[in-house]
Order: sequence, then structure tokens, then C-alpha cells
Amino acid sequence: MMRKGIILAGGRGTRLYPITKVINKQLLHVYDKPMIYYPLSILMLANIREVLIISTPHDLPLYEELLGDGSKFGIKLSYQVQLSPRGLPEAFILAEEFLNGSPSALVLGDNIFFSMGLQPILEKASEDIHGMKVFAYPVYDPREYGVVEVSAEGKVRSIEEKPQHPKSNLALTGLYFCDNQASSLAKELTLSGRGELEIVDLMRIYLKQDNLSVHNFGRGAAWLDTGNPDSLLDAANFIATIERRQGFKIACLEEIAFNKNWITQKELERHADDQKNSSYGKYIYNLLMSCK
Ligand code: TTP
Repeated sequence: MMRKGIILAGGRGTRLYPITKVINKQLLHVYDKPMIYYPLSILMLANIREVLIISTPHDLPLYEELLGDGSKFGIKLSYQVQLSPRGLPEAFILAEEFLNGSPSALVLGDNIFFSMGLQPILEKASEDIHGMKVFAYPVYDPREYGVVEVSAEGKVRSIEEKPQHPKSNLALTGLYFCDNQASSLAKELTLSGRGELEIVDLMRIYLKQDNLSVHNFGRGAAWLDTGNPDSLLDAANFIATIERRQGFKIACLEEIAFNKNWITQKELERHADDQKNSSYGKYIYNLLMSCK
């Protein structure tokens, strides 16, 4: 069965107040495109073509307006409301009907990944439909993250949420590949002390089944989140720096779709025309020129 994707793009965004008082965080821009383009690019790079976007009742219609049915990116998008932010594993519960027994990949709407060789890593993870695979990244101060401790053989030793005394420097990123048990297992979870379902609890169930694996992106990659004003600005500066230096865009969805033969040259041309006044649209024009 083909793996399906889920983007969890709700939340309150209270660390960004007052910016996110009336607009959802993932609709904000990171340099030259809306934040949600970045996690959506990750799913597309993993060859996932059916994606469910979950957000608040207020913001979900805005995502629909922005992204439509997905056909302009050669994919199929569906939309689902989350009434209140009850935790990450709720995504698998809300997505149960959409998944309809398929394995899934959940990505948080505010996570940005950039690394050489990212596409093959994602494709490989996507093809392996057994158990749960999570992705870790070394950070200087892991105390505000989920932290995973891995043995020399790559086995998960422990998982802790926001530990005061972290057992490793490996933070859990917001990308989770699960087999088809995710929805039913998520339904068995109970609310934590902070009133949420916890992704680390879901991971522990898979760990007990000896069905949890971790990929460490390592120091040669970038994993950025955009939860507070500083990290949002850092992410925008990072994207701008790389894009201006190389002349390649990160997370240009039309480019990814075109490279995968999911949209035609004619369609690409239309998307360039629609956005011709922006650097994003001009970039798509240049892609067209280079293949003529
Ligand atoms: P968080 O960082 O937990 O929350 P947040 O970013 O909305 O807000 P705050 O600044 O108030 O801490 O969420 C991480 C991502 O997951 C973010 O993109 C929002 C999303 N999310 C949901 O969509 N639903 C949920 O139930 C939770 C917990 C998070």
C-alpha cells in the first residue's frame, strides 16, 4: 500500500504572539514562500502524493485557498480540522479515515530540513513500511526537545520529553514514518500531565514491539524550527543565504513536481505565469528556460 502523508499545521503559536493572534503560524513566510511549503516538500521528496493537511477551524480554509486540491503540484491534498491542539499523535487519529489502512508519514508544519542526500534518505524511509522510523538531529542544548539515546548498534535506549538532564544531544525532529498501526495505537494513548497526547508515548509502544528505528541526520544537515521570533528569523536568513548563493530554491514545490514528472512543462509554464512578479515565479521561468 502506498504511504500517505500528514502535515500537522494547527497549534496556537503562542510563542509568536502577537504575530499569530489572528493567523496560523504555518501561513507565515519563511523568506520567499509560506512556511507550509517546506514540510510539504519533504513529503513530496519522499514520493508521497496523497497528503492530509490538519489545521484549526479558523485557518484550514486559508490552506485550502493557498494549496487547493494539490493538482498544481501533481499531488492530491485533503483537509481536516483539529478542534484544539491535543498533541501530535492526535494527527494519526484524525487521519484514520484518510489513511484507510496505509502507512503514513507525519511532519510538523513548522519544521524545515535541508541536507545533501536528503531525497534518497526520505525515499528509502518511505519504502520500508515496517514499524516506526523517527529522525534525530544533534543540538547544542537538547533540554527543550524530545531526546533520544541510541546505542552504538543504532538501537534506541531511551526516549525522554524535555529532560532536565539529557542522556544525549540527539533531539527528535518533527518527522515520523509509521506503519499502518499508528491510528489504532494513538487511540490507546492517554493524556499526559500537560493535557496532550505525546508522540514519545507512541514511540515507546513501537520501542516495546522492537519496531522503532532512528535516523540521525548528523552534523552535515540543517534542521530548523520556526517557533519563536529568533528561530523564525534565523530560518529565513538561512534559506535566503543558501538560495541567493546557489541560485537554487529550497522547497519550490512546482520544481519538485516537475522533476518527478508529476506535472507537465505546460503546467509548469502556467504556474510561472501566475506568479511572474515574484522571485519564486521567475525561478520557475528559469527552470523552463533550462529545459527548452
Ligand atoms: P508546538 O510547538 O507544540 O505548538 P505551537 O507551535 O502551536 O505553539 P506554542 O508557540 O504555543 O508553543 O507545535 C509544534 C507544531 O505542531 C506546530 O507546527 C503546531 C503543530 N501542532 C498542531 O497542529 N496540533 C497540536 O495538537 C500540537 C500539539 C501541535
